[in-house]
Amino acid sequence: MCGIAGMVASSNVAQKLYRSIAALEYRGYDSCGMAVQENGHIDVRKNVGTVEKVNQGERLTDMKGLAGIAHTRWATHGGVTRENAHPHMDSQGRVAVVHNGIISNYHQLRERFQNAGVVFLSETDSEVIAHLLGECLDKYEDDMETAFVSALRELEGNFSLAVISTKASGQIYCAKRESPLIIGLGDDANYIGSDFNAFIEFTRQAIIMDDGEFAVVTHQGYVVKELLSRNVVNKEVTEIEWDMEMSRRGGYPHYMLKEIYDQPATTLSTLSIPREKLAELARLIHESRQCFLGGVGTTYYIAAMGQYLFSQIAGCYLPAISTDEFPHLAQVGPEDALIAISQSGETYDTLTAVRFAKERGARTGAIVNVMGSSLVRTVDVPILQGSGPEICVISTKAAMSQATILLLTAVELGVMRGRFGEEEALGYRDEIGNLSDVLSEALNERAGFLHTAASRHQKMKNWLYLGRGIYYPAALENALKMKEVTYIHAEGMSAGFLKHGTISLIDENMYTIVLMPHPDEKELHALTRSSAEEVRARGGFVLGFRFEGDEDVEGLFSEEIVLPRVSPLLAPFLHLLAGQLLAYFLAVQLKRDVDRPRSLAKSVTVA
Ligand code: F6R
Repeated sequence: MCGIAGMVASSNVAQKLYRSIAALEYRGYDSCGMAVQENGHIDVRKNVGTVEKVNQGERLTDMKGLAGIAHTRWATHGGVTRENAHPHMDSQGRVAVVHNGIISNYHQLRERFQNAGVVFLSETDSEVIAHLLGECLDKYEDDMETAFVSALRELEGNFSLAVISTKASGQIYCAKRESPLIIGLGDDANYIGSDFNAFIEFTRQAIIMDDGEFAVVTHQGYVVKELLSRNVVNKEVTEIEWDMEMSRRGGYPHYMLKEIYDQPATTLSTLSIPREKLAELARLIHESRQCFLGGVGTTYYIAAMGQYLFSQIAGCYLPAISTDEFPHLAQVGPEDALIAISQSGETYDTLTAVRFAKERGARTGAIVNVMGSSLVRTVDVPILQGSGPEICVISTKAAMSQATILLLTAVELGVMRGRFGEEEALGYRDEIGNLSDVLSEALNERAGFLHTAASRHQKMKNWLYLGRGIYYPAALENALKMKEVTYIHAEGMSAGFLKHGTISLIDENMYTIVLMPHPDEKELHALTRSSAEEVRARGGFVLGFRFEGDEDVEGLFSEEIVLPRVSPLLAPFLHLLAGQLLAYFLAVQLKRDVDRPRSLAKSVTVA
């Protein structure tokens, strides 16, 4: 949701700290701020706007101090205002706090402080933390560690937070509960961040904090302790595998385009995930009475695609449930399993669903991109998808890899269930092995047609995406891509459902995109074809996404995008790619903020 960065060094931290929050901007970007501490004084500068814009007005990089914290915000409690931006201070200016998450008892705390005469400057839940710390400093006679620990014990809800204080020169206090926080270990400086991107430019050595821990970080070292006992915890140092180069845009105008074009390479690294890992996930499914697939937003649609893959390949029905609804719907018990899919591994809804399943005795697995994330550390069987950092808020390459992992796992499960033998599995794997080349071919040869289609139809206000079978969740995902990056209304639907109501919307103001199945999928193909005909018969404009060599549909569409010839197994993957490109090109034509669409955040850590 929001991004936290912090740094303690033997020289001024402002320049590097500024670079840290700039690197975290994709986590939230409506306002930002920094606090640095020097000579018993804390300087806080913050405002509304992008990190760059706030720096221009507030001169963040000119600040002076050896310890500092910073925050980039995506508003939850309270509007987008300077006052609501972080850091927040106590009334006497002794502490500055940055916070991610939600303090669920902030109403009670706020009321208590207001009754005691404290004036609140913001509408946020986070400001209570600063006042609580101030109160505890009074109570414990400026003993910062005791004040910090006792303040934290009063907080309900989830948080990752960092604090600097005039009472703790050259130190950052930080803690986490259900929201990520990582310490970075440098040579003459140490860092904190809500994810690796905060400090990956400076160091690759990291300490991943766990729930219920707090840390004191100085420029020479760090100590992690348990919040309850205050006992020291010995933590392992993790080497971060991503590097800066992987995070950079590499000459592309937007991260979204770079990440779309990364896909031939990222699917290759997905294809190199050891078979034993996939077999572990397949075994989790095989040994469960019922296994659910869970994700939310894009990852739910990927889970829904997985539903078809497991059904068709392994003959096994794995219900896909959107994780925000999981606790209200799933009947899950000790013999069941849940496989969660998440790019960030920090999504509140998905973590909540996993915890819900675990509490009921179910086993859990995950397909996740960010190593060390909460999801990785919560589930029994985590699979790291290895897609590298996905910076654009819109998920593209991570989603493609997740679908690939589900496909590969379905093959493992097919063997395990005795649906087919090793030889057939080998055939599947060979076929899937072509995915990277097929994506390259489509990107090299077909992207231009999608660009043209986007220019031609940029005035259209309503798009309907239709598909059947596995192409139905692919249509839902394509529609989501269109909505979130272009702000144009788009709806995905199963093509068979259309005639049960929505068809009445078809007129010249509604464009329909039909995701044609592979021509070898005869029944699905014929049914989808008739849905396209129904739309055309009502005067609707149909843009067909179809495969080369599909003569059967020649002349059927008002306009078409011809995708390269592939095997049926890989066909839906090309539709995903086409949907990504169309949405991207349209967003550029409409001058949208492609990498950071309004109201969205990269990782949604709130309910
Ligand atoms: C859409 C998108 C979101 C995420 C969803 C889950 O492009 O990015 O719908 O897929 O918020 O996020 P993760 O995958 O981090 O759990």
